[in-house]
Order: sequence, then structure tokens, then C-alpha cells
Amino acid sequence: MDSIIVRGNGPLKGQIPIAGAKNACLTLMPATLLSEEPLTLTNAPRLSDIKTMAALLESLGAEVTSLQDGKVLAMSSHDLTSSHADYDIVRKMRASNLVLGPLLARTGHAEVSLPGGCAIGARPMDLHIFGLEKLGAEIELREGYLHAKAPRGLKGAEIDLAFASVGATENILMAATLARGSTVIRNAAREPEIVDLATCLRAMGAQIEGDGTSEIVVQGVDRLHGATHPVVADRIELGTYMLAPAFCGGEVECLGGRLDLVGAFVEKLHDAGIDVEETKAGLKVARRNGRVKAVDITTQPFPGFPTDLQAQMMALLSTAEGTSVLEEKIFENRFMHAPELMRMGAEIEVHGGTATVRGVDRLRGAPVMATDLRASVSLILAGLAAEGETVVSRVYHLDRGYERVEEKLGNVGAHIERVRET
Ligand code: UD1
Repeated sequence: MDSIIVRGNGPLKGQIPIAGAKNACLTLMPATLLSEEPLTLTNAPRLSDIKTMAALLESLGAEVTSLQDGKVLAMSSHDLTSSHADYDIVRKMRASNLVLGPLLARTGHAEVSLPGGCAIGARPMDLHIFGLEKLGAEIELREGYLHAKAPRGLKGAEIDLAFASVGATENILMAATLARGSTVIRNAAREPEIVDLATCLRAMGAQIEGDGTSEIVVQGVDRLHGATHPVVADRIELGTYMLAPAFCGGEVECLGGRLDLVGAFVEKLHDAGIDVEETKAGLKVARRNGRVKAVDITTQPFPGFPTDLQAQMMALLSTAEGTSVLEEKIFENRFMHAPELMRMGAEIEVHGGTATVRGVDRLRGAPVMATDLRASVSLILAGLAAEGETVVSRVYHLDRGYERVEEKLGNVGAHIERVRET
């Protein structure tokens, strides 16, 4: 397994291009299952999770061709041969469950493995099932698989979600595009990835209004057609790289960054004493002098502070002036990076969903282990601000969500290298 070695760094300077959003791409790819005609995605990120989704779609009979070094994905689901999403693929990546809604809508049946446990919490699928059952699907759990069928097709319905789940909103939205009549999704997730999915579905002929608000209204159509759609910028990759100069000092411009994607996060950066400026090409971030100040963070659904940036922010606050309190409201077990940061000298106490971080003057390099995707990048950032050398092992998590991290950080002056193991 590869590891990443990071050495404590001086100020960073330069530009980092932001890729298309992993989480948007993982819901846009299954949208191909809704139509017989081709769907092409541009600005796709080059990540192992995208390859996993491509393998899943291919196992269903779709064709996925990767062009321009993976930046363009040309897909066709003209001849679907299976409606069975196998455990072997689903267990690798929870987002595999996003084939459920489209398969059901297009073919009238689907068998999708339950994803099983995940390092950051239980992550059940009850809201997905609730919504699809409202649309008329019959769903049973047998032998670890959800067996879903809609022998008479799906029918529009009013669906009130108990929680604004991103995945449930996406599955229901995709299914509703081909249901008879109109569907209203209340307490829908408002994440930019939902807006991106709705934009793509509209380009395919779907009738959708209200995406980006808590109430999405869909008028079902008989069929969807082909389209080409650019994947929205990755707000989590953006937020992660915006933090790099906050750790090390200096000035970094994130190309393709947009304030509307990271509003709540930028407010907290300002409170911590970091400058963020909009430029023609993206967002420029600078820490000119002094220590970062402590800030309190509560993770929330969009437009609140994203859970996917909590680990990186905790790493930053571990060297802040003062004490910060971080509350995790989305996932019940998402502080596994805290003990790893403590091995580097951070002072953190975790009680349930609350972490109290007492800022120390300096972190010290140490061997640490990546426990999940966002935790792994938080350890790399911490290593850049630490004295000495930090070796982050188990970085396969990192490759699921960050393309060419050592190249992107290395280009702005970070001391970072990958050690490949054969
Ligand atoms: C998506 C993102 C993930 C991000 C998360 C929250 C993708 C591929 N992943 O995950 O990176 O951290 O949004 O912003 O887009 N829940 C239920 N029942 C359900 C569904 C969810 O109880 O049926 C709970 C989950 O256990 C979790 C919370 O709702 O505690 C949030 O989950 P959800 O918004 O569905 O996140 P994902 O779509 O899995």
C-alpha cells in the first residue's frame, strides 16, 4: 500500500486547479441508466471511486468510455443486461446505491446490495426506501439485498423526508423523472451536487423545478434523451486546498473555485483570520501573518458547514490560538482523525459528537494512519504545518477522492512525496 511523506513547510505560493466534484459525478453517472441515448460528462475527476462506479455501470450492461485522460466520460445504457448491483462492488463504495432509483424507473426492477457498515457511521438507507415506496415501488430486504420492483411503473407522489439526505434526494429525484404525474420532494437536500444533477437531468429532457431549495417538484416524462454535461467544481477539494495556505502561510489561488459553493466555510476562515478573495479565475486565499484564531464549528446540511471539511478544519484548529469546539451533526462516528492528530501533539477531547480542540503552538511529525477519505487529507495538511516528517499510511482512502494530491500541493511549494509499494 502506498504512503505519503510530508515535511514541515514554509509559505506556499501558486495556483491549484480544482477538479470536477466526485460526489456530483457519482450521482451523474447512474443518470445514464435513465436513458437509451448516450450521456457524456465533461470535467470528470480522475479518482478510484469514479472507476468503481464505471465498473458497476458496466456490470449492468452500460458502456463507459473514458476519454481525454479520464476527464470525459462517454456513457451509453442502450442495452442494459442486468439490474443486479453486486455486494462485491457496493461494499467498496456506498454511492453505488445511487443505481437503485434509475434502474427501478427504467427497467421496473432492481436488486441492490445494502452497503454495510462504513467507517464513519451506520448510514442506513431507510429514507431512500421510504421515498421510492411512495413512488409505488415494492421493496423487500432479502439476503443482504434490496429487491425493488415497480411492475406497473412508478407514479408521482408527495414525499416528506425526515432528514435532508443527499443520497435519498438523488435517488428519488432520478426515479421521479420517469414516474407518471408529478412528484414533490419536501425537506430535499440543497447541496450543489443536487443542483448539478437536476441541471443534467433537465438537459436530458426532465422537468424539474426547485432544486437548490427544500422543495423539488418533478413532472414525470415518458423518456429521457442524451446530453452532454460539465460536472460542477468539487467544493470539498476546493475547501481542502483553500486550507493549505492557512496551515503553512503564503497565498494560493484555487482555479475554478466559487464562493457560492463554500459560503459557510469561508465565513469560518475569515473568523480564523484567513483572507479569501474572489478573482477572475477562482478564489485566492492568504494567511499573511500571525497564528490562526480558534473558531467553533457545527456541521450541517448545505448551506451549513460541510461535514466533509470537518477533519481538515480540526487539523487547522489544533494549532490555533485558543480553544475551538467542533460539533458533528451529520455522522455519528466522524472523529477518527482526532487520535491520529493527537499522535502529532494536538490536544483534543472527544465526547460523543463534540470535539474540544485546545490549540498548541506546533504539531510534530509522526507516522499516522488514514482512516477515511477526509481524515487522510487532514493528516497531510497537518503534516505540512508540523515540525519534522509525517508519514501517512493507508492512503488508498485518499485516492478515492483527491486526484494527484502530491502534484497539486507540490506545485505550490509543499514538500510532499508518495512512496509506492509494489
Ligand atoms: C453524501 C456524500 C458524503 C457527505 C454526505 C453529507 C456522496 C457520494 N457522498 O453522502 O460525502 O458526507 O452526503 O453531506 O454524495 N441517513 C439515514 N437514512 C438514509 C440516508 C441517510 O439515516 O436513508 C443518514 C446517514 O446515516 C447520515 C446522514 O443521514 O447520518 C447524512 O447522510 P446522506 O445525506 O444521505 O449522505 P450520503 O448521501 O450518504
